[in-house]
Amino acid sequence: MTDLEYLKKYVDANKLDEAIEKLNQNIPVQYIVGNVDFYGLIFKVNSNVLIPRFETEQLVNKTYNYILKYFPNNLKIADIGTGSGCIAITLKKLLSNSYVEAVDISSKALEVARENAKDNKCDVTFYLGDLLEPLKNKVDLLISNPPYIAYDDPDVMDIVKKNEPHLALFASNNGLEFYEKIISKAKDYLNEKSMISLEIGSNQALSVKKIAYKYFPASKVLVEKDMQGKDRFVFILNNLL
Ligand SMILES: C[S@@+](CC[C@H](N)C(=O)[O-])C[C@H]1O[C@@H](n2cnc3c(N)ncnc32)[C@H](O)[C@@H]1O
Repeated sequence: MTDLEYLKKYVDANKLDEAIEKLNQNIPVQYIVGNVDFYGLIFKVNSNVLIPRFETEQLVNKTYNYILKYFPNNLKIADIGTGSGCIAITLKKLLSNSYVEAVDISSKALEVARENAKDNKCDVTFYLGDLLEPLKNKVDLLISNPPYIAYDDPDVMDIVKKNEPHLALFASNNGLEFYEKIISKAKDYLNEKSMISLEIGSNQALSVKKIAYKYFPASKVLVEKDMQGKDRFVFILNNLL
């Protein structure tokens, strides 16, 4: 569907001119309409949250397949950097017997995530705070699509840089900041048989793999590709194989 078709589908006819004007000003169509389809569910979005991406649907799908293979369906899951809540809420929908919690450092993002959980009739526990810090109990799965763009990355599109929250996009240490922070602390928050699922930048696989083996030397670390054939996901399987 083109952006214009998308607008016509969701915007009232009497507000269409105004909406097209915003589109011409290079505002993402999802922010104009105020929602996005993710994994067959509808999520509200505004400028306080990242627009959920296709790659993240794949992160959820691949993680779900690992869960079906290695876990019972009543596992404990924590989504770190939840934004709109798309990962946490979709997993809870897929695994209704699981306990799902989600963390974000942005209270405005959490407002959106809470609304999305309510709209999708979904019970997720949300925490405001820094990465793993708010988690109270050990979990079976840590999942995250953290900010991973280097501050000096010249390839970030203008429409992204000008509209989406920088807190959701950029990370220090060449974009690796959050992988190191999450993985280095993860052991304290994970059950013995457990998994970490991460979305990564396409040029970060080697570095993230290195970080993973530094803190989980005995675990299986797998890199997987997105639909464009780019390295996009890292899975760390602890005592599962
Ligand atoms: C790339 S966005 C991902 C949002 C959503 N999970 C998705 O996949 O569409 C990263 C999220 O991490 C949050 N974040 C940034 N720093 C954080 C921190 N120190 N602790 C928790 N969340 C953080 C941002 O506010 C943002 O919502």
